[in-house]
Amino acid sequence: MNTETRFEKFLNQHDEEAWSATLATLLRSIHEVDRNATQIWFAFYPLSLLRALQQADDRDKLVQRLLLQGDYELRDQVDRSHKFLYGHRFWPQVKTAVEQHADSFSQTTRTSLADQILAVAHSAAPQTKKDESLLVGITAVGFMTVQQAGLAAFKSALGTIHIDSQHAKKSPEQILRQRAKIDSQGLLGFLKTVNKQFTVSHDENDDKAKYKLNDGQDLAWGAANDRARDWVAIDARRMEGPIPVECRSASCGTCWVGVLGGADRLADVAVREGKKIKEFGYIDTAEPKPLIRLACQAQAQGAVSVVIPPWNGQFGKYLRALKEQNDQSIKVAVKSNDEAKSELVQ
Ligand code: FES
Repeated sequence: MNTETRFEKFLNQHDEEAWSATLATLLRSIHEVDRNATQIWFAFYPLSLLRALQQADDRDKLVQRLLLQGDYELRDQVDRSHKFLYGHRFWPQVKTAVEQHADSFSQTTRTSLADQILAVAHSAAPQTKKDESLLVGITAVGFMTVQQAGLAAFKSALGTIHIDSQHAKKSPEQILRQRAKIDSQGLLGFLKTVNKQFTVSHDENDDKAKYKLNDGQDLAWGAANDRARDWVAIDARRMEGPIPVECRSASCGTCWVGVLGGADRLADVAVREGKKIKEFGYIDTAEPKPLIRLACQAQAQGAVSVVIPPWNGQFGKYLRALKEQNDQSIKVAVKSNDEAKSELVQ
């Protein structure tokens, strides 16, 4: 029995391209503190990957083929996946507003996805007593979570906040100031050519989640020296410090990270990183300093704030081939439909 609600049906009319266009429209309405974070979240949870898994004849086999490891499904982390967004603080109110919107969604609703997200953020703003620009990113995340996890799973999540009250109190300006901070190299730091050290923060809601690296070292190199915690107990992929790594040569895709702050303080993407990150499926861009990087390749030239996704895989080539196949079958279907029509006319 098909139990898809009207709202889910509406959402399912949107593929990854439609979502990219929606996100591009929404970006100017998202507060600066969450502009990068929202784009990173959407890169962390690609809709096309979920659809490929749903359509697979043998899902487990596909998971193995794409080398997926960790928590790649949103239905298992409805309340948690977005804890690096500033808007996560307002998740209980936003989640309720998304549910109300889903329940009252009518077949006659004609407004675009972007306009619906803006309207829901606007309706949740009075409950949070905050400017709605702080809610637009997390509301978009809520909509996509319904699409990927399903409305029933979305509703059954408790709607809890996963950061402590001390960090929840921080203002967006405090967070932006923190990201803009440049590591002081001492009084004569400007004269230093060697021994410059930079700080990498890998969880903005944990003051101890930081490590140092030397000028020019890649992000994964510096992380390996951080033995402050039992990282494997936190995430089985973290065998060498907080950043999961395997090959250290841009071959496995384990070490991808999102850059919340300081993207311009990382060296430009080199040819190998750019080629491999596209093959893995994480990002497809010619930007020299994108928001998604391979930690084993990205060399720091200053302080940065990154976020570590809870999973990794290699799915870019597979999804591109799948898309070509689908486009081809659509073309064939359209052609035979046109031929049938012209036969009828004759
Ligand atoms: S550790 Fe393998 S790609 Fe970076």
